[in-house]
Amino acid sequence: MIYLNGEFMPIEDAKISILDRGFIFGDGVYEVVPVYSRRPFRLAEHLARLQASLDAISLANPLGDAKWSELVAKVIAGNPWEDQTVYLQLTRGVAKRDHAFPKGLKPTVFLMASELVTPSAELMKSGAKAIVLPDFRWLRCDIKSTSLLGNCMLRTLAAEAGCAEAILVREGEMTEASASNVFVVKNGTVLAPPKSQLILPGITYDVVLEILRGNAIPHQVRPVKEAELRSAEEIWVTSSSREVLPITTLDGKPVGQGERAGKPGPVGLKVHALYQQFKARVMRAPAHA
Ligand code: PDD
Repeated sequence: MIYLNGEFMPIEDAKISILDRGFIFGDGVYEVVPVYSRRPFRLAEHLARLQASLDAISLANPLGDAKWSELVAKVIAGNPWEDQTVYLQLTRGVAKRDHAFPKGLKPTVFLMASELVTPSAELMKSGAKAIVLPDFRWLRCDIKSTSLLGNCMLRTLAAEAGCAEAILVREGEMTEASASNVFVVKNGTVLAPPKSQLILPGITYDVVLEILRGNAIPHQVRPVKEAELRSAEEIWVTSSSREVLPITTLDGKPVGQGERAGKPGPVGLKVHALYQQFKARVMRAPAHA
């Protein structure tokens, strides 16, 4: 069951105009909210990021947070899985094709859910493969825009190389990956690139930083050089669906040195375990907490 412009319906029945600016220009923004045991995780933070994306593209939010929360709850209830991802998308609406933003349109509001599939125990044990690619996307990657052609091209290049992710580099510095943020471990310290217009401010990225701070795990938020990525002891990608996933092969070479080369490292495994505990604790708390 999905929600489209005021109505709940089966996905097969959902229709939008071919003049929708989301279809014509990719003029829209979105969020992906993980849901555990039918409870959305960090919903307030996802709604705050949605608002930031809307502000950045001068699109007024047609709904308040209470209404968004109600719609999310209804979509969760209308779908069969205990663990879901709720996708919500807003476009500027329907208008004659013209690049400049028209005023006063009715935005198209869409929510759907799918089953949340987090990395399997097997994948967590082996870690995933990634390649390094030049970040050829635009300069406003902080906006969670539905215009994802650059990300789709990069992810496809990764998939064609048999990899789960493309880790992106711009002017000698690591930015993020095609659909996740990236952390590296260098000389025992976790390094995370600072938030900027060149990366999406990940909700999972924030949770991981909270975990690092809360457990006194040495870390620094600072620009990460491509050379540091390539010589890192550990690399992890983080996102709402991948959680904290170790990358153990980069450009066909094992990540890390010595005995641990090509295997998930101890810091990433610890953070992954702490992330699972964190989630379980939040999910056990009363719904209003
Ligand atoms: N992607 N960077 C990019 C480019 C992303 O697309 C995503 C998430 C992230 C991680 O953000 P978060 O931790 O809030 O999920 C970083 C989602 C899952 C997607 O597009 O499906």
